[in-house]
Amino acid sequence: MSQKKYYIETYGCQMNVYDSELVGGLLNDCGYSITNDISLADAIFLNTCAIREKAEETVNNKLDSLQSLKNNKPGLLLGVLGCMAQNLKDDILQTKPYVDVVLGPDSYRKIPEIINSRNNSMDHYVDTRLSKFEVYDDMFPSRREGINAWISIMRGCDKFCTFCIVPFTRGRERSRSIESIENEVKKAVQQGFVEITLLGQNVNSYRTSGGDFASLLEQVAQIKGVKRIRYTSPHPQDINKELIEIMSKYENICNHIHLPLQSGSDRILKRMNRTYTKQEFLELVSMIKNIIPGCVLSTDIIVGFPGETESEFEETLEVVQKSSFNSAFMFKYSPRPGTKASEYTDQIDEEYKQSRLESLINLQRDITLLENQKNIGRTIDVLIEKDSKRSSLKWSGRTEGNMWVIFDKDPSYSIKDIVKVKINSAHGVTMFGDIVHSLEREKNEAA
Ligand code: 5AD
Ligand code: SF4
Repeated sequence: MSQKKYYIETYGCQMNVYDSELVGGLLNDCGYSITNDISLADAIFLNTCAIREKAEETVNNKLDSLQSLKNNKPGLLLGVLGCMAQNLKDDILQTKPYVDVVLGPDSYRKIPEIINSRNNSMDHYVDTRLSKFEVYDDMFPSRREGINAWISIMRGCDKFCTFCIVPFTRGRERSRSIESIENEVKKAVQQGFVEITLLGQNVNSYRTSGGDFASLLEQVAQIKGVKRIRYTSPHPQDINKELIEIMSKYENICNHIHLPLQSGSDRILKRMNRTYTKQEFLELVSMIKNIIPGCVLSTDIIVGFPGETESEFEETLEVVQKSSFNSAFMFKYSPRPGTKASEYTDQIDEEYKQSRLESLINLQRDITLLENQKNIGRTIDVLIEKDSKRSSLKWSGRTEGNMWVIFDKDPSYSIKDIVKVKINSAHGVTMFGDIVHSLEREKNEAA
């Protein structure tokens, strides 16, 4: 009999990408191998996201489209995993009875049992209990080959921003032991990954008896073979000087911080329960730039939060301008049933949300270009990641700040090397340059 195959589609954040790899590891242990062709699969999993309504809609449409596949192949196992499974299990079971399995983010250990008992029973299997302890400490994800390995270091969120569903879908904060994180990093390096991204819903509230986030970062930085370390997403409240100093001390920790602003208005920040003011955020930006000059910053911003006035939105634009973020993820507020903000009675009309989003995107586009243009003439470190989409004679690589650079290939280097690239131009979100060889570099430096 040929080997059984699974297909998994991942929606949402990087934590879901990691979780899909964990599920992949479990399925491998059950004798399943991965396929990218959904029509060949014996088991299909959608690892879902509930952060905005649109994410849920996408998954619902996908599930609708899978009904006929399921009808034609009754033995097929169809599973819904992740945040939407946690949040909408009753809805899914009622409206899509052909879904076999619904598992929340803390229930993936159940997968082997479900797979192995399925030959006998055709019942639905649902488990959306949240755990105070589950960190999947002892499990190894099945990663696809690549540059970057995602490694989850903590799960859950206790911050309860009033707009956010995550504390409800992913439960309470819990951190994984330093030893198990180190083991996973070492294993990823052995497998050929050169970049490690430490992940958590609130990555910098990591804490165990072995130390806090800054000390974890320092220990990971010392592991041989780790060319680059990133982390996401931190909360501004939990960023301290010690963390920034550790970042500046180790060359392999990327000088890049994703610093979610959400809003630039103190009243809205308070209503969002973000626990910092506009002034405190701007001071944090200055502290970071003082300790790590040129540190690249990216952010998340929500427009049209309930009650946001035009002038409060303009304050957001002002903070965006002052912070000069290199890039930003920008969203229209999407009410999430069960969260505090969804009950606020002063919801903003869609047309205002849309026009505010467009103004913000336009402003940020200019700032991104300006920040990239500042690099023209500079020589920066680029990790070669892949062939450029436009030409097989060129490579694409990323800067420490996560920005893409395109440059001519050079036989003295290969993918996964870090090279010095002199930036010649910047268009849109991409920079273009040429590799600088060490001899030229010495001449440049001497001049
Ligand atoms: N509506 C719009 N954006 C949201 N985010 C979280 N919840 C919502 C919501 N209800 C955004 C925040 C967060 C990012 C991951 O998603 O900006 O930082
Ligand atoms: Fe959501 Fe806020 Fe927690 Fe981030 S910190 S996951 S935005 S509640």
